[in-house]
Amino acid sequence: MTKILAFSGSTRRNSYNQAVVECAAQAAKDAGAEVTVINLADYAMPIFNEDEEAEYGIPERAQAFKQLMIEHDGILIASPEYNSSYPAVLKNAIDWASRKAGDEPVLAAYKQKVVGLMAASPGALGGMRVLVVLRMLMQNLSCIVAPAQVAVGNVADKLDESGAISDEKTKKQLANLAKQVVDLATKLKSE
Ligand SMILES: Cc1cc2nc3c(=O)[nH]c(=O)nc-3n(C[C@H](O)[C@H](O)[C@H](O)COP(=O)(O)O)c2cc1C
Repeated sequence: MTKILAFSGSTRRNSYNQAVVECAAQAAKDAGAEVTVINLADYAMPIFNEDEEAEYGIPERAQAFKQLMIEHDGILIASPEYNSSYPAVLKNAIDWASRKAGDEPVLAAYKQKVVGLMAASPGALGGMRVLVVLRMLMQNLSCIVAPAQVAVGNVADKLDESGAISDEKTKKQLANLAKQVVDLATKLKSE
């Protein structure tokens, strides 16, 4: 079965982006995938420093995060836009996961992985600028980034009382993206 990992680029409690990725994760399940949803808050890792990596190796939480990426066929990421770009916590996790340990192949967490990108913001544009740089970053790491993407603007108005995405149009957009990721990852896996 096609395996999809889902996480957001936010460690904030009640993160909008975590709500968005959880909605997409449910849609990926509905599209037939086995889905693992994680929160980067459970994968706290130090700011990457090459000297410390050389001395102590890859920290346990960073290796655990990378291992999850390696074990899944596709990745759903919903990222906040911080000053037009991705938050440091997301880039730091991506950097750690790019580091090779033992006999792992180079970029094992990224090669042949299908990625679906989302952003959410209380602002009107939904963080659409972060999608541009995140797409470039993931493609440069050898991921196959799905053509579809979703920026959820005015996200605070699109939640129910439990904090889940309830806006029907947004749910449909997220479902279309999730299905595209699952279908692409399934095709790639069968080759
Ligand atoms: C340092 C910082 C920079 C931000 N820059 C932007 C921005 O460029 N565009 C935007 O739409 N929102 C920006 N925001 C607001 C975030 O969209 C908002 O905090 C959002 O709730 C973060 O996502 P989350 O709820 O998933 O944590 C910024 C917030 C912070 C803390």
